[in-house]
Amino acid sequence: MKINILAIESSCDETSASVISDGKILNNIVATQSVHEKYGGVVPELASRAHQQHLVPVIQEAIKTSGLDKKELSAVAFTRGPGLMGSLLVGVSFAKAFAYSLGIPMIEVNHMEAHILAHFIDHPAPLFPFICLTVSGGHTQLVLVKSHLEMEVIGETLDDAVGEAFDKTAKLMGLPYPGGPMIDKFALNGDPKAYSFPLSDMPDLNYSFSGIKTAVLYFLRDRLKENATFIDDNKNDICASVQYTLIKMLMQKLKKAAKIHRINEIAIAGGVSANLGLRAELEKLSSELGWKVYIPSFEYCTDNAAMIAMAAHFKFLNQEFCGLDISPLAKMKI
Ligand code: KG4
Ligand code: ZN
Repeated sequence: MKINILAIESSCDETSASVISDGKILNNIVATQSVHEKYGGVVPELASRAHQQHLVPVIQEAIKTSGLDKKELSAVAFTRGPGLMGSLLVGVSFAKAFAYSLGIPMIEVNHMEAHILAHFIDHPAPLFPFICLTVSGGHTQLVLVKSHLEMEVIGETLDDAVGEAFDKTAKLMGLPYPGGPMIDKFALNGDPKAYSFPLSDMPDLNYSFSGIKTAVLYFLRDRLKENATFIDDNKNDICASVQYTLIKMLMQKLKKAAKIHRINEIAIAGGVSANLGLRAELEKLSSELGWKVYIPSFEYCTDNAAMIAMAAHFKFLNQEFCGLDISPLAKMKI
């Protein structure tokens, strides 16, 4: 009998469902919440309400397009954390009711582990052990991945996530949320050396992105005093310079991690791995340093349920199920 799993992702502002059959992703339905745009960031209460609205139609669509009957499902998987508590609760509660009504087991998935396991959706997949730089709106981590289910965080940000630095810079420039993709777009036509911002140097393999945020704030404030249209006149150069600095910081510790652990299988994951500048820099380093670099397709970079389904498949093979008494975790370690 085939292992068919329905997976649900609702940790932040995307409501998503996916069906996986014997390790093959059959679909990946994502409903993005536009309600947050006018607030310049995700509003948790609005996010949970939007999940409640979107979840049932998204799941119906996933089951329908999988060609399976819900009675053919072997398990239901869901994101347990980390994420927004109210948003996670919507997914977890649905998973419980659904699993109970069908009499099938549940599988809890760690969102950050799932970002990494998205690399096993398409081929070729990285070879173990590999290092994954996980970069999202809430996290920046260097993870040593020893097997599908064995991971160790070897470095991480001690304050803000790199995605936050992208989004905050965009906000300071008056660009709409989420700002990361906008910075990426304008950076394409800008000079990365036009302005310089300080690089942080944290101990070991750790990162810090709070300093650059403040540096950008003061830089823009001072320039705007001299020229009220400074941002509009130099949008591309500002974006390219900030992005260049952020990527440089990410790469410094990634290079150090690869050297310390003597690993040249390198992967990136999470929303910020959609960044074109980061992708180009990794390609460059792969030829310079002999790295084998793995970059997920755009669809599997930002939040999606296919990655939850992939992680759940490996847990199913290992018979890792959870009970109906499970609760979500806003903070959840790898
Ligand atoms: O993984 P993700 O979808 O959600 C979280 O788990 O946080 O990541 C979202 C983050 C946001 O900060 C967004 O601005 C950033 O990923 N992002 C990008 C790009 N696309 C998404 N940052 C830079 N360049 C991009 N192209
Ligand atoms: Zn994410």
